Amino acid sequence: MTLDLGVLISGRGSNLQAILDAIAAGTLDARVRLVISNRPGAPGLLRAQEAGVPTAVINHKDHADRASFDAALVDALRQGGASWVVLAGFMRIVTNVLLDAFPGRVVNVHPSLLPAFPGVSAQAQALAHGVRITGCTVHLVDPGTDTGPILAQAAVPVLPDDTEERLSARILAREHELLLHVLAAIAAGNLRVHPPASPATRSRVELLGVPGALGVETTND
Ligand code: GAR
Repeated sequence: MTLDLGVLISGRGSNLQAILDAIAAGTLDARVRLVISNRPGAPGLLRAQEAGVPTAVINHKDHADRASFDAALVDALRQGGASWVVLAGFMRIVTNVLLDAFPGRVVNVHPSLLPAFPGVSAQAQALAHGVRITGCTVHLVDPGTDTGPILAQAAVPVLPDDTEERLSARILAREHELLLHVLAAIAAGNLRVHPPASPATRSRVELLGVPGALGVETTND
């Protein structure tokens, strides 16, 4: 199944680039139908344009509330032909307006081993807490902040002389791999979502036939 992706960004767009490169290389069965940035001038918009992908800027500041911002996203995503949505460095909390339009089909990449360090500056949070291992997570999005069902994670050690910049760069390299790993599994029809057994429990997700954890990165590259 070719995935029709809408990719939401706020900035640099290196995760978007990883998706575009994998599609161009034939290793991901997907099309990026539309890239939307909430920030005008986000460098990721240029990456999309260079790949011939339609782009839109939908500025959250032009909307009175999150619901009307999300409604504008949904309109654009539907018109663009997206059936899955990837939050790739999209620094806005999404609401049920978006989630109900793409139920179980909104994926986020986050630079920590969730549920540790949700929200912004996850890498700085990891350094501030002195954890020895952090990493990245790809998960389905729910209305909470980085709380949705986890699809896959990769671990990255925190090195004694790490700065936020160095740690972020090492995590980012794993993000690209992990995101592609998950999207390829979804495209292969290998995502199963098991509904909560009771109101007190959560949905359980599994990626059939592929490991949900990539190994601990032990090199300092
Ligand atoms: C990535 O590290 C991504 O995990 C993070 O923003 C960066 C975007 O990089 N997202 C979050 O922190 C969301 N809470 P990119 O624009 O180069 O893909």
